[in-house]
Order: sequence, then C-alpha cells, then structure tokens
Amino acid sequence: MAEYSTYGSVAVLQVNNPPLNTFTRHVLQALVSGLERAQRDPAVRSIVIAGKGPTFPAGADLEELLGTAAAPLLSNLRMVDKHVDTCQKPIVCAIHGTALGGGFELALASHYRLAVPSATLSLPEVHLGMLPGAGGTQRLPRVVGVKSAIQLITSGQDIKAQQALTLGLVDKIVQGDLLKEAVSFARSVEGRPLEDRRISQRTVPDADKVDEVVEATRKTILRKARGAIAPLTCVQAIQASVLPFAAGMAREADLMTYLMTSWQAAAQQYVFFSEREVRQWSHPRDKHINFRTAKPTVIKSVGVVGAGTMGAGITISLLQAGLKVVLLEVNKKQLDKAIAVIQKTLRQKSASQKMSQLTTTMDYSQLSDVDMVIEAVFENLRLKKEVFRKLDVITKPQAVLASNTSGLDIDKIAAATKRPDKVVGTHFFSPANVMRLLENIYGKKTSAETVATVMQLATTIGKVGVLVGNCAGFVGNRMLGPYRSEALFLLEEGVDPQDVDRAIEEFGFPMGPFRMTDLAGNDIGWRRRIEARLTTEHGPPPDTPALYRRGDRYCPLPDMLCLQGRLGQKTGAGCMMLQEAKDDLTENIYIRFRTDGSVFDLRRLLAHTKTLEELILDLLFADDCALLAHTEAALMSHHAPSMCNRYDPGSRTALPDPVVLQMIQDYRQEHGFKKRTISSQEIVERCLYSLINEGFHVLDEGIASRALDIDVIYLFGYGWPRHTGGPMYYVERVIGLEKLLRSLETYSARYPNHSHLQPSPLLRDMVAKGGSLAALGTTDSKL
Ligand code: NAI
Repeated sequence: MAEYSTYGSVAVLQVNNPPLNTFTRHVLQALVSGLERAQRDPAVRSIVIAGKGPTFPAGADLEELLGTAAAPLLSNLRMVDKHVDTCQKPIVCAIHGTALGGGFELALASHYRLAVPSATLSLPEVHLGMLPGAGGTQRLPRVVGVKSAIQLITSGQDIKAQQALTLGLVDKIVQGDLLKEAVSFARSVEGRPLEDRRISQRTVPDADKVDEVVEATRKTILRKARGAIAPLTCVQAIQASVLPFAAGMAREADLMTYLMTSWQAAAQQYVFFSEREVRQWSHPRDKHINFRTAKPTVIKSVGVVGAGTMGAGITISLLQAGLKVVLLEVNKKQLDKAIAVIQKTLRQKSASQKMSQLTTTMDYSQLSDVDMVIEAVFENLRLKKEVFRKLDVITKPQAVLASNTSGLDIDKIAAATKRPDKVVGTHFFSPANVMRLLENIYGKKTSAETVATVMQLATTIGKVGVLVGNCAGFVGNRMLGPYRSEALFLLEEGVDPQDVDRAIEEFGFPMGPFRMTDLAGNDIGWRRRIEARLTTEHGPPPDTPALYRRGDRYCPLPDMLCLQGRLGQKTGAGCMMLQEAKDDLTENIYIRFRTDGSVFDLRRLLAHTKTLEELILDLLFADDCALLAHTEAALMSHHAPSMCNRYDPGSRTALPDPVVLQMIQDYRQEHGFKKRTISSQEIVERCLYSLINEGFHVLDEGIASRALDIDVIYLFGYGWPRHTGGPMYYVERVIGLEKLLRSLETYSARYPNHSHLQPSPLLRDMVAKGGSLAALGTTDSKL
C-alpha cells in the first residue's frame, strides 16, 4: 500500500495500489504510518513520496469517495495533507504519470515537488460535481493566484509538467531517474528552514484583487457552467483562500459537503459511471449476446467511402488511433479538399507520420483488402444500396460493411448485400474527430461478432460506443424529432425562434434548436423530408393539407425557409465579413488544443484567419466538445447567415430577423393561429418532455436496452447538460415520472393532434406500478 525504504538519511514512501494508486482509507492509513515512522527515526532527515507503477496517486478511490465511506476518506485525506504540511522534515513529492485530485493535493501539501516531463497534474473534481476538498482550493491560489486558480479548478484542465513549472507548481523537472533524483534532491534540502516551503503559510499573490477577479470571471463561468452549481461553488471556495488557512479550509469543507449532497453531484457521478457501463453492452433482443460472449474481429485497416464532412472526420479519427485507412471519393475536388483537412489536422497534432497510413483513391478496387468499410456518402437510400452492392462484390468476404447513415434503415441497406450478417450502422457525430459518441446500430441479421467488432472499434478510436436497434433515426435523431416538432409548433403559437433557443440554452444546452439547425444546415432535415415525401423541392406535395402529413400535425415553416434559400451557414447568403467581427469580440474565448494543452485566444486566432471556413477547420482540432460548441455558438452569432436569426455586428445575441418574423406572422394569420404569450417553462417542458417521452417508446420497443444508453447518447452526442445526468436520469431523479406523466397528459389534452405528447404506455405502466428506469434492462453485474 505504501512501501517504506530508506536511502541513507532519506526515507522513501512509495504508494502501491495498482493500477492507478488511488487513495483508499487503507492506503492513507499506510501513508500516515510511514510518515510517522520517518518522523520518529532520528536517522531520517528528509522524506520522498512517490508512486509505484505507472503513476503518482491519481486521486481518491471513486468507489469510496462516492459511496458511504466518503466522509472518512475525505477526512483521512485532509489529515494526511496536514501531517505532510506540518512535518518538521522536508517532504519531496516525485511525480510521474497523472497526479489528479487528491494526489495533486498531497503534492501541494508537500514542501517540494519534482516531476518528469510527461507528468500531468489536475484538479478534475468539478467534472464530478464537486470541488477539490482536501485543501486544493486553498493551496493552489496561494501559488498561482486567484485568477489562475479559478481557471484551473473550474475547468478541471490538465496541467502539463512544463506548464506546472512555469506556474510555480513544480520546483524542478527531472529528465533522468525520478526516484534517484528525488532522493538526491531531498538530501540537498535537509536542514533548510521549511517555513517558506509550506504553501499553507503563504499569502495569495493577488489577494487584494480577489473581489475584482471574481467579479470579472463570474460572467464567463456562469455562461460556461450552463446551470451547473459546482464551478461557482469552486469559485466561492477559492475566494476563501484569502482568509487565514484554517478558516479557508473550514469554508472549503462546508462547500464540499454542500456539493457532495447535491443532486447535481449525484447526476455527474452517474454520468461518470455510465460512460464506463455502456461498454458492457448486451444485445437488447438476446441477452446471451453481450460484451463477454461475443468476440470482435480484429480491425487493422478501414475503407472510408465518401470524403465529405463526415468521411474526412472519420478518417482522422481512425488514423489517430493508428489504423490504416483507404479513403475513397468520386469527386476529385472533394477528395483534394478532404486530404487538405486531414493533413492540416494531423500536422497540428504533430502526427504527420500517421498520414503515411492513409491511401486516397477514386477507384473502388482499392478497397479489396480492407478489414472494414465505413460508408459516408450522401443520405440517400438508393445511393447507399448501390454503394453496398458494389462493396459486397469488391471487399473480402469477411470484411464488415458499416454505414454512417443518420437514420436510414440498416436492414434495407444490408439487403443489398449477400452478407447482411456483416452489415451494421456506425453513426458518428459531427465533427467526427471531436465528438465522442458512436451510435452503433445492429440490423435484424447483424451477427454478434459484427456487433462486438464495432463496439470494440469505438474503444479503439477513443469513442463512447452505444449499441442500439434499427428504426428511423435510431435513438438520438429519433428522440430529436418530437423536440424539433414541438419547437416549431411553439413558433406557430406565438413564440419567436430566439425565445425557444434562450429557454433551451438556459436549461443548459449549448445551443437551442434554431441556432443548432442554423449551424448544421437546414437543408439536412429538408432533404430527409423530401426523401420521406413529406415535402418536395418546390413546395408541399400536391393535394396535401398544409399542416398535416399522413394524419400527423406538420409544420411546414422550415421547408418554406429552405425554399427561400435560407439553408443556414452553408449557403453563404448575407454572410458578414469576418473582418467586421474581429473587433467585436469583447471577451476572450479560449480554445485548448490537444497537442500540447496550450491555450489559444480566439481573438488572436481570428486575426490570423482569413475565412470562416478556415477558422471552423481550426476548431476541428479543439478537444473539448463543450468548448467547441460554445465557441461555434459565439462564432455563429457573429458571422452566420441564418435561418431564423439575424446577428448585428458587435453583438452575440441572436436577434429576430424581421423578414423571418414577418413570414411567421403571415403564416400564423393564414392558418388562423392566435399569438399568445408562452412561458420559458412551457417551452422547456414541451420540447424536452416530448423528447423524453420518445425515449420511453425507444425503451419499450427494445431499441435501447437501458436508460443509461439513452443518457450517454444525449450527453456525448447532443450536448445535453452533464450536470443533469441525461434526459432519462433527469426525468426520473429530478422531475419525477409521475410529474412527467401528468404534464404530458395536460399537454396532450390541449394538443390532441401532437402525437408525440401522448404519454408512452411504458411511462404509464411505470407510474402505475412504481417501476424504475434504472431497473430496466441489463447491467454488468447481472451478466
Ligand atoms: P457530404 O455531402 O459532406 O459528403 C458526402 C460525400 O460522399 C461527398 O463528398 C460525395 O461526393 C461523396 N459521394 C457521393 N456518392 C459517392 C459514391 N458513390 N462513392 C463515393 N463517394 C460518394 O455529407 P456528410 O455530411 O459527410 O454526410 C455523409 C453521411 O453521414 C450521410 O449519410 C449523413 O446523413 C451522415 N451523417 C452526417 C452528419 C453531419 O452532421 N453532416 C452527422 C452524422 C451522420
């Protein structure tokens, strides 16, 4: 647990709790015993604390921290840190691997810190809805100042060794043998006074400006937090670092208790464990087929067909994971464009050697030897079937054939081949090299081996794979349908597009439905509706009632906008010059790049970027999706020509576009809608409850096997606010199933022709019988 050895006058304590050296109560007790022994031994004059194996302690053991043992664990951690801080013999921490959370806090309590160049430090507690509760919020600002501490703690970002050295968090970077160097360093500081080495005894460098700093950052944090309480609570704790140390620690402890007992922390912890649990998949139709029983095929080379937006992003993902890729495209210009995007991304990520793994071609026969193909051509069933027919002939018989369709029937695509058992859906999200979700869809004939192969592929390329069944839109896009419809019906009744967006963004989404479609391109949905014969390229189909399709309520407003050429960003119509916006950014927006963790100021980026397209290209490299979405949102509000909104120069606020508003007004009059005032609460409830209600249908039909699968899809693919745990968790734990049912009953009584507001039979049943979503489906422990 904590191995004790001595090297002359230096005692070395090596934490040994594989694999991550996490702190359990037992490990901490062993550490205290070791410290006491070193203190007692007159021959020992200094102490080194290190981690054995791959890393320095990577924080508290989550099973203990998030369970009933949380309070004793935290108090043990605080006790160890106090022991270390007040020790009369110098304590040197030797850091390698990842010193996270409690591990980093222990290092901060020590008198000296050495690190290898590859070491990473961070206080990521905010991602679990908590704060660094063992002195992190008190010691970090005493080294880096309140401003940087707020930035580091509220983002939970990684601090690389070199950056830590610059910030004063590390005293020395060690190139050679860390332990040997640490022992000799410890020997060199023996007998030196320790008072100025105790961080707890220092004053915060920018203490006199604390209120000013907090005030200046509050707005940004509020915006980024999108309703999460942990970041702001972290700020409150950091604010207390200007008090005497003991008082600050007491304040930190109080705030930690507040967070640990909050529903948001529970929700974020659920998210953390759900991300792991989705990997333990089981086939919704046959529980005997699961992650344990099904064996994946080894995939070393992948063909990607179609080098558009998705094909290029998918190729980057695969190359980054070290796979060989053959990228095929029929349009030479498009292929060249994709190559440039891929090259630029890989160059930025200093991975140019990975380019050698890429073959680009316009010749299908080049796919004859790949282990798998991912098709990403236009969303058109006829075309996809033709492509699969061709692939079936050209590729080797054992190759898996996957489609990146956003919602077409996998069985129909599979039927175009003689190997339907090898056909599967792999639904990536845009930008495919950034977004972490991979929705994997099995068809009627997809084999267990094929399912296991694509689930394994998700892990190989660093994505979160979720297995779902085949239906129009699968899980994610299917649930989005009612949400979008309800947003449109709200326009008919009197709400403006930006009111809907605002209400949804206040709930915590990075973008409301209208800004989202402005960004993605309004023609995507339009093309889908044309393909489904709900509309045509020239207007509604002949002899069709304007507001109904196949007996269901239909809002033709988006079709009308598309007919006017308002397709969103891609049409370029009315695009403001980027130049205009350069000076309009009043706040700095930072983009962190994965390569070296460095931070770029968007304002500077804009100044060096010639076109919006290039800038978006740069954004593809950002590794933080929330930040990416946020940045894109900010950009959109500056530059984008839009379906529904207008954006004045110098403002980020989406303004109503008089042309669109007039059009909606005329539409209301033409169809006899009476404008009424609608509250934000009603907007959120109608949009989100109809989405969640669809989630119950999805579960009922076995399209998703567990509520957590749906939650993970929405969290990692659709920007659902993390602190609420995902749609199904939120409705069960926060809203309550009974309240959802009553609200849906009220709304469906008011709008009997909005079929998606009719409560799902599963929901009714669960409320009647007192069932729980968490108990649905299988979990790992039962397999
Ligand atoms: P895109 O229009 O950017 O690219 C499609 C590419 O396929 C074009 O470059 C086209 O030249 C090429 N292509 C057409 N026929 C071909 C053929 N027979 N052989 C080889 N290449 C061919 O489309 P995008 O956005 O990349 O979408 C591709 C697929 O991914 C669609 O099924 C779409 O529904 C799906 N998807 C799109 C998302 C998005 O946000 N754009 C998100 C998730 C899925």
